[in-house]
Amino acid sequence: MTAQILVVDDDRSMRDSVARTLERKKYSVLQAPDAASALQILSEKEIDIVISDIRMPGLSGHDLLREVKRRNPETEVILLTAFATVESALEAMKDGAFDYMTKPIPGGPEAVVMTVAKALERRDLRSANRRLTEELEEKYGFENIIGKSAVMRKIFGIVEEVAPTDVTALITGESGTGKELVARAIHFRSNRKDNPFVVVDCGSIPGTLLESELFGFERGAFTGAVRSHRGKLETADRGTVFLDEIGNMEMSLQAKLLRFLQEHTFSRLGDEKETRVDLRVIAATNRDLSADVKNGKFREDLFFRLSVVPIRMPPLRDRREDIPLLISRLARKFFEELRVQEKPFSDEVIRRCMTYDWPGNVRELENVLKYMIALSQRATEISGDHLPASLGSPKSAPAPDGPGVAEDTLSLEEVEKRHILTVLNAEKWNISRSAAVLGINRTTLYKKMEKYGFDTSPGESAPGE
Ligand SMILES: Nc1ncnc2c1ncn2[C@@H]1O[C@H](COP(=O)(O)OP(=O)(O)OP(=O)(O)O)[C@@H](O)[C@H]1O
Ligand SMILES: [Mg+2]
Repeated sequence: MTAQILVVDDDRSMRDSVARTLERKKYSVLQAPDAASALQILSEKEIDIVISDIRMPGLSGHDLLREVKRRNPETEVILLTAFATVESALEAMKDGAFDYMTKPIPGGPEAVVMTVAKALERRDLRSANRRLTEELEEKYGFENIIGKSAVMRKIFGIVEEVAPTDVTALITGESGTGKELVARAIHFRSNRKDNPFVVVDCGSIPGTLLESELFGFERGAFTGAVRSHRGKLETADRGTVFLDEIGNMEMSLQAKLLRFLQEHTFSRLGDEKETRVDLRVIAATNRDLSADVKNGKFREDLFFRLSVVPIRMPPLRDRREDIPLLISRLARKFFEELRVQEKPFSDEVIRRCMTYDWPGNVRELENVLKYMIALSQRATEISGDHLPASLGSPKSAPAPDGPGVAEDTLSLEEVEKRHILTVLNAEKWNISRSAAVLGINRTTLYKKMEKYGFDTSPGESAPGE
């Protein structure tokens, strides 16, 4: 598409000469003798670039610049003047002019052509950036938090209401219920959305390390601190910091965090200087923090400070009516990701998914869907045969499991196999955590997984990946 340029100057010959030069470069050019008629054109047509004189009868080029930027910040404005002063140049740049050029133009009309090309480049870059932000917003918008149950609708309402404010939110709920998803939705619906969303996992980082991770440190603050280091709080400046698994934070660090929440300032380890940052804090935990407060594991003052807006994510088994919707929306995504032809789910599968208790919540459902989709490559339908053993109905257990057994006569081995699978799903197939939950060591777990034919590839992978 040819770029549309508007040339504004009360001097007709000047206007014509700039316009002709640009037209020779195949730009489409409109002309206006003053700011008022320029604004008229701007309200009727899509203009990419405005090139304007400053001194004109009526509104000046500076006034025009401000009005253009107010209407559409993406329109680039180049000011052109025979009476250049430092003050007016500074004012132009402050108001967002792309460039400020003097008349007669030192490089001749060609210089204008070059400036126009650069301005168009910047405008394209900006709109690409905006598209990227829009994609992120879509990714973390409500469209991606699936649910139509009353309890989820209530959560959407809370998110919408608190997002534009700066209040601290505490999101609680079992593992895999969507706590991080909601935290991101709050950020991406807030005025901070163009600034960073920084996640700090307080659960997996040991105490002293977490302190330097949050606050940063100066060189020489402790042995090994050979360079100074910005903490996550500084990285997140003007954005949102998400303190995940806050319930695992040590008492001494809780005190420092509280102080930060009250004062908005902190100092890096090994430094006296106070740093001020502008942050919104969202915290999450799968623990019962009020119980931790009662038995002295969590500071009450910090608890109150964090939970200005408490958001409780319901376990999936408490919003079963959302399960069919989750299945269809998530499956559509996974069919595409796994490059498997879309196919329907049998009634049996849907029924079983609706009656199962989902200890690992939506994350477990995601893993089960991926597993079934991967297994169903050659099938026309996803049926009971594709259900993983944890959900499998005994009558239709897949072949490797041997002949079906009635629920009340499960062998000890079958019980063990199912239990291991349930735990693996709940722990996102993380071997160390699953072994810990099962009370066996990792080697033993590996052996059992091999025996039962489970995927033993490392990490948080789904069984079908
Ligand atoms: N309502 C939902 N709609 C769609 N996807 C969801 C929903 N809730 C959770 N998910 C998906 O489930 C997975 C787990 O969600 P998330 O990481 O937000 O959970 P969490 O509560 O932070 O879990 P954990 O405590 O284990 O960190 C993610 O892949 C997320 O996209
Ligand atoms: Mg999480």
